[in-house]
Amino acid sequence: MDLRLGATVPATEEERAAIASVLGPPDTGWDGGQRTAIDGHVAIGGHAARARRHLLIPVLHAVQERIGWISPGALDHICERLTVPPAEAYGVASFYAMFRTTASPGAVVHVCDDLACQVRGAEQLCEQMTRRFGAEGTEAAFNGTGVSWQRSPCLGQCDRGSAALIQRAGADPARTGLAPADPDQIWQALAVTAANPAAPPLVPQLENRSLRTLRLLRRIGQVDPLSLGSYRAAGGYEMLRRAVALGPQGVLREVKDAKLLGRGGAAFPTAVKWEAVAANPVRPHYVVCNADESEPGTFKDRVLMEEDPYALVEAVTIMGYACGAEQGYIYIRGEYPLAEARLRNAVGQARARGFLGEDVMGAGFSFDIDVRRGAGAYIAGEETALINSIEGKRAEPRNKPPFPAQSGLFGKPTAINNVETLLSVLEILRIGGPAFATIGTASSTGTRLFCLSGCVERPGLYEYEFGITLREVIEAAGGVAGGRPLRAVLLGGAAGSFVGPGALDTPLTFEAMREIGATLGSGVVLVLDDTVDITSLLRRITQFFRDESCGQCVPCRVGTVRQEEVLARMARGAPFGSAAQELALLDDIGSVTRDASICGLGQTAVTAVQSAVRLGLIGS
Ligand SMILES: Cc1cc2nc3c(=O)[nH]c(=O)nc-3n(C[C@H](O)[C@H](O)[C@H](O)COP(=O)(O)O)c2cc1C
Ligand code: SF4
Ligand code: FES
Repeated sequence: MDLRLGATVPATEEERAAIASVLGPPDTGWDGGQRTAIDGHVAIGGHAARARRHLLIPVLHAVQERIGWISPGALDHICERLTVPPAEAYGVASFYAMFRTTASPGAVVHVCDDLACQVRGAEQLCEQMTRRFGAEGTEAAFNGTGVSWQRSPCLGQCDRGSAALIQRAGADPARTGLAPADPDQIWQALAVTAANPAAPPLVPQLENRSLRTLRLLRRIGQVDPLSLGSYRAAGGYEMLRRAVALGPQGVLREVKDAKLLGRGGAAFPTAVKWEAVAANPVRPHYVVCNADESEPGTFKDRVLMEEDPYALVEAVTIMGYACGAEQGYIYIRGEYPLAEARLRNAVGQARARGFLGEDVMGAGFSFDIDVRRGAGAYIAGEETALINSIEGKRAEPRNKPPFPAQSGLFGKPTAINNVETLLSVLEILRIGGPAFATIGTASSTGTRLFCLSGCVERPGLYEYEFGITLREVIEAAGGVAGGRPLRAVLLGGAAGSFVGPGALDTPLTFEAMREIGATLGSGVVLVLDDTVDITSLLRRITQFFRDESCGQCVPCRVGTVRQEEVLARMARGAPFGSAAQELALLDDIGSVTRDASICGLGQTAVTAVQSAVRLGLIGS
């Protein structure tokens, strides 16, 4: 079998070294080197090579980071090593925004022009970038290498925007996040190396520390995120000890008593998933933490992972223990280099100290965690798409059923939860499930993280008990910036809904949001004053969904394009026919896309626009 892509230039030594850094030397991994002698004569491969297919994305990252793009020669070599058909590997490499399949400049600067940054001057930053580095997508010279810049969807730094992310080939660090960013800082950051590091990152502002009891954010700024000792001194790993004392069934009971609902967007009962996996006779079981956080306006999971990484490692271990899994994965978006580095450090330290491994804490169970990096795809946050991505495939959602608890990662029972959900489990074990259930309201228990951004005096991450009103949340953040009138609030991110000032006294709970046709989603509270151009914001939302649709199903693939076209015409002030006709068309597109798409992306891609129409924010 000839796996070659037809590359005229074989992989270079450097590309082979990058590939070997993930897969090991070519003669190991699939047969311990015994078949090296025949490698040159027959096609290589076999079951063992195919079983390592899940390493495709890590190895693509290694090449991208070392060389700056995935050349045909490198892709051929990867295909040979993993026995992946070249067309399929190319399909994967070309799916993700952080991989480039054509020769690229040594450095690429991604400049966020998404919702919160747009409100805070992203267009001015893009203009400055053009003056300093040339037009978007063109190459400028810097320190003997090429640099270009391009617009990007949300980089998860919305409280500090405008944000930027630098991706560099053959450099250490290979990725650097900046917020707020300006062309001078970007210029300086391009010169930063491991030997010449930048200033340490800022600890995020948690403005409500004195106002309320923090539960999920309690350790932030109080523990050293790089030190297991510091985490333990603050009570770290006591909850795992408690979990072991309770036994897996005891942990499941606490989570059930707590009535915990998932914080990743769908608000599904966590205990139901965990019980289904734990009870499934098929083995092995897997647990996965969804740390892909790509919903525009969301940055809560980043703060938790950057500032309290051991807590997530402990929580995933408890999840594995309760679900009967020996292997867990944390899938973190590629745009979070600092959070990823801290998590990897935490996993390594936990392993070295016996908190992960064959006999966790001497308690007689085995569990380990693999940190996997995403590569720039919003859809990878959808749970089945994420599972495909860990398996080394395009992040395309699967049809459900079967649900991951029945057939998930590698076809095995899998529980998957959001970072904030898992940190809530630590709190449940700390105070007990029934006590947790008394916090908040009867149907929305516990506390919730809110990502405040946009036209608010003090943007940042806030934690409150469910039931606080939108007005109270905005006032605690200093109110609308400059005391201007509030025009609207986008709740839940691009997949969420706009609400007007009339909703200010609505309690922020799952049930109250349902009643007003809104959603808490991933906790986004994007505040918009009377100066914001809502039509151009809506246009950005429609561009986002057009770009991020995976294209598998027609209603979503076509509907997101048509929706963006209508918004583009409205933004230009050049509707087809009357504004009323355009609104009717939007409504038609919205119904079909929502009702006929197979996953949540298509089903929610029209929600924000429809809510804006209802509120009269456009077309009037
Ligand atoms: C398009 C799309 C993107 C998503 N992105 C995320 C994400 O970034 N993080 C997340 O936790 N859940 C995300 N979800 C929800 C997941 O599919 C899933 O419901 C969640 O990870 C389950 O965890 P939870 O029960 O703890 O909320 C997304 C869903 C869709 C449809
Ligand atoms: S709804 Fe959209 S994102 Fe989801 S599977 Fe279909 S095309 Fe892909
Ligand atoms: S970082 Fe720009 S909108 Fe989130």
